[in-house]
Amino acid sequence: MKAVKWILGFLAVMLFAVGIFAYVTVSKGAEKAARKYSMDYDDAMILHEEEAIEAGRYLAETHGCTDCHGGNLAGQVMADAPPFLLVASNLTRGEGGVGSEFSDADWLRAIRHGVGMDGRGLFIMPSKAYYYFSDEEVGALIGYLQQVEPVDNVLPPVKVRTLGKLIMGMGDDFKAAPEMIPDNARPVMPEKGPTAQWGEYRATILCTACHGYDLAGAQAPDPDSPFTPNLRVVGGWGLDGFVRAMREGTTPAGQQLDTEYMPWEDFGRMTDTDLEGIFRYLDS
Ligand code: HEC
Ligand code: HEC
Repeated sequence: MKAVKWILGFLAVMLFAVGIFAYVTVSKGAEKAARKYSMDYDDAMILHEEEAIEAGRYLAETHGCTDCHGGNLAGQVMADAPPFLLVASNLTRGEGGVGSEFSDADWLRAIRHGVGMDGRGLFIMPSKAYYYFSDEEVGALIGYLQQVEPVDNVLPPVKVRTLGKLIMGMGDDFKAAPEMIPDNARPVMPEKGPTAQWGEYRATILCTACHGYDLAGAQAPDPDSPFTPNLRVVGGWGLDGFVRAMREGTTPAGQQLDTEYMPWEDFGRMTDTDLEGIFRYLDS
């Protein structure tokens, strides 16, 4: 009987320790999820000329904005899962949208630094990559967003549930929190053209979030996604093979790319110049 008592005592201590650990971890995750940021001012001129707005629309449709925020940019519930309720904001000036409240500086803070208007770190928003948008392109993008058709769509706020807090407490980051964003100087935008330099600019914003900073393959932010391959492989495909993969989603080896994890439908809308530039860069 002594042994049973001893084992029960041991289990009680273990349970207590696990309980404390879970409590501390969840609290840590909750603190991380709720953390607020004050941001230094980031400057860029917002462009409203017709040509800039057209350029902004191109960026919104090729850089994932319409994917997550919906085709009309009025936002949507992206996932309702045990860790969280994930909601991409309504970006228009309609009811429930941020468009009527955002100043130029608020737009810049959200897109390039991952900080929402009330100072909260934005979940999932790939600002770590959008940080690299040049002043000219981010100015055109915001100019476009400020004039899109207003759509009334009132959405619930993002909710981080206990499991989500536990995961965050253990070290995972679902946020583009400013501390994760490099504050290195933003590189100067190269001249646009079908060149490796131009392709490097596009690929840094578009491909590194999932394929890793050196494009050698990584775990994509979506935990359900397959591991991403090394993009050096593309060199052997030739320009035509690469363009076909981006426009039709089929690789020369006959693999069909799942647009849910590898958003080729967005990339396929890119101009020939952009695609050739990216190819030249990956091939170099
Ligand atoms: C992978 C999905 C994803 C992509 C791609 C994405 N967003 Fe977001 N974005 C989100 C989510 C989710 C939120 C809300 C996060 C939150 O409330 O914590 C958000 C928030 C924002 C906000 C802040 C709104 C607010 O409520 O404060 C702005 C502005 C924004 N996104 C603009 C953009 C633009 C512009 C693009 C394209 C260049 C883009 N997003 C691409 C997922 C995405
Ligand atoms: C949202 C995440 C994401 C982004 C952003 C992304 N990829 Fe991918 N990519 C993937 C995943 C995941 C796979 C693997 C798909 C599979 O195995 O089904 C993949 C596969 C590929 C492949 C196939 C490689 C092979 O060996 O078959 C190519 C080519 C590719 N990506 C190019 C790009 C380029 C170029 C960019 C930037 C313009 C890019 N990807 C951006 C997630 C992404």
